[in-house]
Amino acid sequence: KTLDDLTDIAGKRVLVRVDLNVPVKDGKVTDATRIERVVPTIRELSEKGAKVILLAHFGRPKGEPVADMSLSLIAPAVEDILDQRVHFAADSIGEKAAAAIAGMSNGDVLLLENTRFHKGEEKNDAEFTKALAANGDIYVNDAFSAAHRAHSSTEGLARLLPAYAGRTMQAELEALEKGLGNPKRPVVAIVGGAKVSTKIDLLMNLVKKVDALVIGGGMANTFIAARGTNVGKSLCEHDLAETAKQIMIEAATAGCAIVLPVDGVVAREFKAGADNEVVDIEAIPADAMVLDVGPKSIATVNDWVSKAETLVWNGPLGAFEIAPFDKATVAVAKHAAARTKSGALVSVAGGGDTVSAMNHAGVADDLTYVSTAGGAFLEWMEGKPLPGVDILHQQK
Ligand code: 3PG
Repeated sequence: KTLDDLTDIAGKRVLVRVDLNVPVKDGKVTDATRIERVVPTIRELSEKGAKVILLAHFGRPKGEPVADMSLSLIAPAVEDILDQRVHFAADSIGEKAAAAIAGMSNGDVLLLENTRFHKGEEKNDAEFTKALAANGDIYVNDAFSAAHRAHSSTEGLARLLPAYAGRTMQAELEALEKGLGNPKRPVVAIVGGAKVSTKIDLLMNLVKKVDALVIGGGMANTFIAARGTNVGKSLCEHDLAETAKQIMIEAATAGCAIVLPVDGVVAREFKAGADNEVVDIEAIPADAMVLDVGPKSIATVNDWVSKAETLVWNGPLGAFEIAPFDKATVAVAKHAAARTKSGALVSVAGGGDTVSAMNHAGVADDLTYVSTAGGAFLEWMEGKPLPGVDILHQQK
């Protein structure tokens, strides 16, 4: 059920779970994408005359109040982006929340304090969920990026109140369905990032579902080393050689092509502007490390992107945060964006650093969908159930 099913809601108290877990430096929100994404749902409910009560977590405070994890720090940014007054209550349950809600007029927006200031939240505790539910008539979940957590505000509430997917949750699920649910083939996946160890389940699941799996970033070194190639001082999890081989065997069995770099950009130090050279992947100097995939590899990856009808992307191809080791990520992102714009490709990117990589490449608005989810995007790509989504699907 979506907001389309919510018509007569003037004066109703709608508890909206949003993800305001945004990066903050020196008191300033450094990436407001998650806030921007929840604006459509808040505005729509407010315009329909609902009393919009926002529930969210911020950081990992372990069940008790922590001053620098207070959502009062995020409220001004929400207010700015929403361009509407956002009231704040210093607790997510109890008297403070009830008093603030009692003072709301139709269309008002209220942000409740970090739900994780109570131990019950992460335990999905029945009493805590009940205390949250006491403040609402309807529950809307617009936090896909927290949907891998079975917490009171992400899962429990949907059992107690009539529950609906918000606009961002809806868009996210539709995009993901296009990406891996019932995708147009060929499907190509690009998986990058530093470590294989955090993405074993992901790789194992993808090789069964996609036609080609491009492996880049630091994790490619583990695969290259597993076949006996010297990777010099490159980031490499040598102890995962057997796992890497197993993934390659699974891929071969499933008919999925594994695409590894054939050349790399190497440097002697990990810093912006470090002296660097392009070498064949079989000729990495013993004292150097690979920080990006090389031009021949970029051409190969782009060929795969050209053949693909669907692309799912998680993780950068190189150390994109330090120039000039961002070249491969930027080149492939631009190519994917151009094909998407021409209507030839459905492209879905997400997880961890991927949003910043796509922003850095300037293509975040040109792909079919860029998910702001980290863990939730990965778990979805791993084929795992997401409690916050499953409970919404169970609503009649
Ligand atoms: C995230 O930042 O990925 C979500 O907000 C979930 O946060 P968590 O990993 O602390 O549950």
